Amino acid sequence: MADKVKITYKDQEFEYPIVEGTMGDVSVDISKLRGESGLITLDPGYKNTGSCESKITFLDGEKGKLMYRGYPIEQLAEKSSFIEVMYLLLEGELPTARQLERWEKTIKSYTYVNDRVRKILNAFPSNAHPMGVLATLTSSLTAFNPKAVDPNKEEDMYHAAARLISKMDILAAWTYRKSNELELNEPDSNLSYIENFYQMMFKNNDKFELNQTIISALDKLLILHADHEQNCSASAVRLVGSSHAGLFASISAGISALWGPLHGGANQAVIEMLERIQSDGGGLQKWVDKAKNKDDEFRLMGFGHRVYKNMDPRAKIIKKAADDVLGQLGVEDEILDLARDLEAIALKDEYFIERKLYPNVDFYSGIIYRALGIPNEMFTVMFALGRLPGWISQWKEMRQTFQPIGRPRQVYTGAQTRNYVPIDER
Ligand code: ACO
Repeated sequence: MADKVKITYKDQEFEYPIVEGTMGDVSVDISKLRGESGLITLDPGYKNTGSCESKITFLDGEKGKLMYRGYPIEQLAEKSSFIEVMYLLLEGELPTARQLERWEKTIKSYTYVNDRVRKILNAFPSNAHPMGVLATLTSSLTAFNPKAVDPNKEEDMYHAAARLISKMDILAAWTYRKSNELELNEPDSNLSYIENFYQMMFKNNDKFELNQTIISALDKLLILHADHEQNCSASAVRLVGSSHAGLFASISAGISALWGPLHGGANQAVIEMLERIQSDGGGLQKWVDKAKNKDDEFRLMGFGHRVYKNMDPRAKIIKKAADDVLGQLGVEDEILDLARDLEAIALKDEYFIERKLYPNVDFYSGIIYRALGIPNEMFTVMFALGRLPGWISQWKEMRQTFQPIGRPRQVYTGAQTRNYVPIDER
């Protein structure tokens, strides 16, 4: 007989089935729990809660493994391209040469951005954080693409994904140009996706040249960020989309969720932390001790992860890429040395060992972005650009599998019933 989980409550026994994933994940399906027993589960931060079944990304936090659609991240980072990985995530299979060509062409066919979107961009003060600007611009696209996307029509979904991917690339680059009070560069359909992004970011005159070291480093970084199953931002996208809000509105919610320093905003926070350590001084041990002190709010940014209890496999690849890229570009960055020393001290410290706190994807990514000439406040925008195909894939899967509206329950601990008191009697 198949395994079941039994719950005994008020002398009654309830049985719940085990659901197994294809990579050996085991869960208990408690969807009938409340109806049968009156109980709900309490799991702040959803640390033990599976919100869905998914075929997109697998990760094993204990072993430090990550795969998109079954392909290990190490292989994709080495052999694939971001444009191909987008297709893989969205369509479920690696594309044939013809499928890839069509995919690239379709993305390039959606580079028109309505003038009014530029006006919205121009209305922001130049010191606005690029993540806030990007979330707003993405949300504004709803107004310029009012036709709802039907996730069950494959062709409709294919074009909606291409449209959003194409425009986000432009909006991200323009957000940067605007915050630096630079002229906006137009997209160039003769270039590849990443080359086009790069020229829109950095082209200032006719002498501009594409640097292939930078292009391939960006390509790898975006692949590494492309999806990460049910994290905070992907869950935000799914939750918003579960009310049947549109794709653009749902993705805008994902951008806002990613912004926070405990999630994608950590890449900016890591560099700010390293710069602070560098300027304040006092030795690295002082900062490690501060991170361990529960009365101090300071945390070692770029360390720890909700699911990885081993080295984040993306951090391993990025650490090596940081070495390569800085070497190839001939950039010497004391911040990289500081990061390496800090990592070495933390990894030997009992506090970090006991809690299985290892460097995550954000620990070294900011160092590469710096070397590539991307400013600190744009780091999380780069993350969003990479994560976009993952968010769209999650949204699509959620809608295509007819997920019910997301609506967690709570355990109420507030005041019991009491009578209203008029204001002059309070
Ligand atoms: N520095 C110091 N202590 C830490 C750190 C850290 N970076 N991360 C976790 N801890 C400690 C906690 O204080 C806690 O200690 P305790 O058990 O004595 O109370 C223990 O380790 C477990 O940490 P939680 O915060 O409960 O773990 P959670 O899964 O809720 O949080 C998170 C994970 C948010 C990533 C956390 O490790 C953190 O804040 N890290 C720094 C921010 C960061 O790098 N975020 C990027 C994550 S990757 C991404 O989102 C793309």
